[in-house]
Amino acid sequence: MLRVPVDKLQPGMILARPVPLPNDPRRYLLQRDREIPPDVIPRLKQLGIMDVWVRHRDFEFLDHLVDEELGHRQREVYAHVRRNFEDIIRNSSVELDLAHFQNSIGGLFNFLKASSGSNVLLQKLEAFDNYLMSHSTNVCYLALLIGMRLERYLIDERHFKSAKEAKDLHLLGLGCLLHDVGKMRVPPSILNKPGRLDSCEMAEMRRHTNYGYDMVKGAVPAAAAAVVLNHHQRWDGSGYPARIDHHSGEPREPLAGRQIPVFARIAMMADVYDAATSRRCYSPGKHPVQVLTEMRTQSSGQFDPEIETAFFRTVPPFPIGQIVTLSDGAEAVVVDFNPDHPVRPKVQCIRSARGQRIDDPSLEEIDLALYDDVTIVAVDGQDVRPYVAAHEQLEPAELV
Ligand SMILES: [Fe+2]
Ligand SMILES: [Fe+2]
Repeated sequence: MLRVPVDKLQPGMILARPVPLPNDPRRYLLQRDREIPPDVIPRLKQLGIMDVWVRHRDFEFLDHLVDEELGHRQREVYAHVRRNFEDIIRNSSVELDLAHFQNSIGGLFNFLKASSGSNVLLQKLEAFDNYLMSHSTNVCYLALLIGMRLERYLIDERHFKSAKEAKDLHLLGLGCLLHDVGKMRVPPSILNKPGRLDSCEMAEMRRHTNYGYDMVKGAVPAAAAAVVLNHHQRWDGSGYPARIDHHSGEPREPLAGRQIPVFARIAMMADVYDAATSRRCYSPGKHPVQVLTEMRTQSSGQFDPEIETAFFRTVPPFPIGQIVTLSDGAEAVVVDFNPDHPVRPKVQCIRSARGQRIDDPSLEEIDLALYDDVTIVAVDGQDVRPYVAAHEQLEPAELV
């Protein structure tokens, strides 16, 4: 199967994965194995669905990389977030159904652990009707994926816990699900403002970490509450909120480096990435290659180097199943991710440089890491050459 942008859908294409309903991702708008009705395409766009998985006889081998079970687990977490956030809006306090939360996070975590050997494809929850809730679910998923790669580091960093507890990620997941809950106290006129925020509005927006902390402290374990308070702290000390001196009540500099709880450092990277790649009411969302390049070039120093390495070795700039254009003019499908050369994945050509359809793409597989003179130049009509070039100047993230 292939990931096809909604704009490029053609009559006769068959869905390889169901399309969930954005306002209730546990139910489906379109079932799998059905032809996509042409009249539904404008509706998909309206709902913010950017691409769908379509059957393709030459790419059936990608099916096992996009696990339907994973989507199911993510949607279960989303459903809990939705139900609890709606309660919070109604009651303006946090009384979480913690056991249920832990259960659904546990379901996702155990699933990821069981599939870690099989190179789980990075698969965000994409269909949604509420940014805050889907963003929270995505940050949770991404943070669990990164945290799983950092077991030894977590045991070191959380040395005050037993090794088993130190690498247990339930509270990381819970903290991520709640990290932006304080935004519910920020006026919608600021939260959804399309343009730049002025300094007063920005100050109010930044208060969401303290609002959130006030809402969750005492209601959730301290490690999860610390994620809510500190997910905008930066490794180089350039984040927020400022600390308050207990004696004088005066603000002090924000946290930096290892002063920031390690779960908050993980949540921060997942948060930056998901916010930048997500479609918002005022922005279409950037492509992963652009976001990852900007994170590595413009935000250097802001991330914990150890977590940064795990992150960049986990998140592919070009998702598997995506159709790309190569520098020789051929069209190809990304079929693998190479953490040592993230912008040079393995691809299989589906259309030659002269525009001819290729009958058996498996015979036209190119490992771009082995060919200096061929690169990916465009994705969905977007020129990605500046990001690929910038990425190639960087050292590969070291092995973890
Ligand atoms: Fe936030
Ligand atoms: Fe966030």
